Amino acid sequence: MNPPQTEPFCPLRWNGECLLLLDQRRLPAAETWLEIDTAGGVATAIRDMAVRGAPAIGIAAAWGVVLAAQRGGGTAARDALVTLAAARPTAVNLHWALERMERVLAASPQDLLLALEAEARLIQGEDLEQNRTMARLGADRIPSGSRVLTHCNTGALATGGIGTALGVIRQAHADGRLASVHATETRPWMQGARLTIWELSREGIPASLVTEGATAHLMKRDGIDWLIVGADRIAANGDTANKIGTYALAVLARAHGAKVMVVAPVSTIDMRIESGEEIPIEMRSGEEILRAAGLSEAPPGIAVENPAFDVTPAAFIDLLVTDRGVVERPSREAMQRLFS
Ligand code: MRU
Repeated sequence: MNPPQTEPFCPLRWNGECLLLLDQRRLPAAETWLEIDTAGGVATAIRDMAVRGAPAIGIAAAWGVVLAAQRGGGTAARDALVTLAAARPTAVNLHWALERMERVLAASPQDLLLALEAEARLIQGEDLEQNRTMARLGADRIPSGSRVLTHCNTGALATGGIGTALGVIRQAHADGRLASVHATETRPWMQGARLTIWELSREGIPASLVTEGATAHLMKRDGIDWLIVGADRIAANGDTANKIGTYALAVLARAHGAKVMVVAPVSTIDMRIESGEEIPIEMRSGEEILRAAGLSEAPPGIAVENPAFDVTPAAFIDLLVTDRGVVERPSREAMQRLFS
């Protein structure tokens, strides 16, 4: 089904009975909306990446708890917390959203369903507002004539609308500050080639797609001023987990004099984790790599490793843009100030 288009665009919609998710596995070839009516269905959609991106999976999980309560009351909602938490390990927004839903359950409100629905709506609405704030804060740091490179998909599709890193790029473009925008393919799942380019072209923002392998050449030949990325989990010392390949791009940026901006709401910051060493990195099926390489099956005996995320040490990050403000050169002390 095709729900009516409302602005700003959001890949998750609640219709009072079901969660509607724009199936990101099928983009850009088809714009298909899934109608999900169980918490288990939401957990599967997160695991199989029908919905993806750290803030978006947190929002989807919150609605998953509402669906469970709708069908089986408080007990089912409590069970759903466990099922949903296990869907994907790296993005902390998933756990952050579930903890918020758990607090509502623990308060035993008179109308539990209404209270859970209100909390899920709040989580989704806050995310959109936070993205608006970060888009402005980040764009203000980008000088006119900047050439930017982004990785993965951090746009409306990955959030409750507007996006994090892509929100900054969108705002900087609207301000007329950008000389060029490059997006990586983002192997093996192709979030950049399939989703970021789809979003940018819908918005009429000129951009070119590059392979990850071409980025060093691009930085040396044409110059890049800013690498702008999102995050899945940021540790208390500023180390940042994001889509696999981000660390390599940050090292390249440093080698070529480009600055690195990470854009993420505070729900992505995990102050309980001291450093990036403790961030769990999701390992996904090797099939994704084989598919990206155009192979239907692996040559016999070949091992395939597919970590979905990597950790960029804080030392490689120039600016962390959050909805609470901008942290320059994130460190343990600077991160603590953000929460004080
Ligand atoms: O595996 P994905 O597509 O869920 O990974 C998403 C990313 O790594 C994004 O960069 C991150 O979640 C920030 S999205 C606003």
